[in-house]
Amino acid sequence: MNKNVVVIGTQWGDEGKGKIIDWLAGFADGVVRFQGGHNAGHTLFINSKKTVLRLIPSGIMYPNVQCFIGNGVVLSIENLLKEIQELENADIEVRSHLRISKICPLILPYHVAIDKAREQYKGNKKIGTTGRGIGPAYEDKIARRALRIQDIFNPNVFNDKLREALDYHNFVLTKYFFSKPIDFNEIFDNVMSVSPFIMPMVGDVSKELSDFQKLGKRLLFEGAQGVMLDIDHGTYPYVTSSNCTAGIASSGSGVSPKSLGYILGITKAYTTRVGAGPFPTELMDENGLKLATIGKEIGSVTGRPRRCGWFDGAALKRAILLNGISGLCITKLDVLDTFEEIRLCVGYYINGQYHDMLPCDSQYLEEAKPVFENIPGWLKSTKSVKNFNKLPTNAQVYLERIKSVCDVPIDMISTGPDRNETIILSDPFDQIKLNLQ
Ligand code: GDP
Ligand code: IMO
Ligand code: MG
Repeated sequence: MNKNVVVIGTQWGDEGKGKIIDWLAGFADGVVRFQGGHNAGHTLFINSKKTVLRLIPSGIMYPNVQCFIGNGVVLSIENLLKEIQELENADIEVRSHLRISKICPLILPYHVAIDKAREQYKGNKKIGTTGRGIGPAYEDKIARRALRIQDIFNPNVFNDKLREALDYHNFVLTKYFFSKPIDFNEIFDNVMSVSPFIMPMVGDVSKELSDFQKLGKRLLFEGAQGVMLDIDHGTYPYVTSSNCTAGIASSGSGVSPKSLGYILGITKAYTTRVGAGPFPTELMDENGLKLATIGKEIGSVTGRPRRCGWFDGAALKRAILLNGISGLCITKLDVLDTFEEIRLCVGYYINGQYHDMLPCDSQYLEEAKPVFENIPGWLKSTKSVKNFNKLPTNAQVYLERIKSVCDVPIDMISTGPDRNETIILSDPFDQIKLNLQ
């Protein structure tokens, strides 16, 4: 029997992970973030009330669910505090059930300044980052010069490390990007003033997770971004700076890979992407606009419009291969309700050669000519449907076609943004087939 479930986005992010994690957290004891930072925007709707989470795990709405931020997350203290404050203002208890790894690398103001300066410098070759300092913070981690949360509890250590890091980054900012230097005292004073507030939540998360598991408790691992934004396997260089694949749930939280039982892939019933980079099934016509309008496809972090396109089975096959996806959750099915015809990409021609799966080296993806299958629309509402057999026949046909193209079972279907607008066919925690009547 599987005790732990890893939830990952299989596309370019914003697949609806937050909604599904919030729903599944009702059956878990703990929820763990293991990569990314506040570039993530995970939206929950509970009885029509909207909450957007960036760093705090999507289990926070349940007072009895312990939430963990693992070492793989790059952490902006300023944004963490803002998020805690926002939740507490909405009467959601946070601090008593949030644990943060001592060894999370910090995002500091110079990371944000470099992220923005670099994007500006790149001009029309820019990545379209969220401007949150994610890339520069991960660079510092890999370069072994990152400051980590534990450093803020020792003012002398923090002082020395910050001076050294700032020396280097201010050189780059002023001499390479010709922008303004970042002030040491402002960062130092700000961080020192909030460190007592942070300290009670910080600990040895990998040990705590191990103890948790010894008690037989169930963990839900919350991926951020999506497989196509993975630093190694995504559409490089138009990617984020962390791995977003399931394997990183282990090293990003300090648990054994043996305890990652079940991998649930979240996949929108069509495709979206924010920022620059190849997108083979992108629609530049009225259908793209219709998906964006009905799907309310506006970025939950930066407010940028999301690019929209048809479902990409060839990219999904790559995501399944990379992650060993056990089952899929198809989200936003209801957004397709008014389309007369729906298209499903099963492969592409790239420079005259057919690929039934997105190639590992995606640098020629701009040239990809998708091959589509046409599926008749259902022209009926699927909004809030909670039972597979109550879905219109053509919606069932579409889902069956996705399943056979990708050769992976569909365990869940989402038919609206609210927590309860969910069809569950198989419980990812216990593998019990449900709701088939
Ligand atoms: P995440 O980053 O993967 O958590 O996804 P986001 O929260 O950034 O974006 C998904 C958007 O779709 C949010 O606005 C959700 O409220 C919304 N959403 C999630 N599932 C559904 C669904 O089944 N139907 C509709 N219409 N909206 C959904
Ligand atoms: P969630 O968890 C969608 C994209 C950015 C940009 C690229 C690099 O909500 O699915 P970064 O700031 O990470 O260096 O930007 O990655 N990106 C996301 N797109 N959803 C996200 O997170 C994203 N996080 C980063 O738009 O193209
Ligand atoms: Mg999002």
